[in-house]
Amino acid sequence: MSQRTLVLLKPDTVRRGLVGEILGRFESKGLSIVAMDLRTIDGETADQHYAEHVERDFYPPLREFVTSGPMVALVLEGDEAIEVVRALNGATDGRKAAPGTIRGDLSLSNRENLVHGSDSAESASREIKIWFPDLG
Ligand code: CMP
Repeated sequence: MSQRTLVLLKPDTVRRGLVGEILGRFESKGLSIVAMDLRTIDGETADQHYAEHVERDFYPPLREFVTSGPMVALVLEGDEAIEVVRALNGATDGRKAAPGTIRGDLSLSNRENLVHGSDSAESASREIKIWFPDLG
């Protein structure tokens, strides 16, 4: 079933010059780019996006990190796009993510893990509305 998912290439991706490498992996897999924007967000937008994490211990430094510079926000589309993107991203902690995944190949951090992908259809719909309200 074709799905849409919200993907963020986080500030570490932009700072490290890895946008092309990571975007290339999604494109090579066959996912289509429906929307794409380079954007620096404020703390309130971070709180909205990460609503389920705002009370967690790791949230304050995560908030600092995701507001520290531009991110590339994307809506990707394709068959089972939500699960496919999460598989390409790999486990949250780059130190534990499997080689061959984006985080497994390119990240050594649990926080600065390069990418975000929606974790369910409900999250995708909620997150797409936050980032790209015109897409519905
Ligand atoms: P993401 O997929 O965007 O979803 C929540 C983010 O919080 C996650 O990627 C990491 O960037 C960050 N994160 C999750 N767990 C931890 C943790 N234990 N310590 C630091 N950062 C975390």
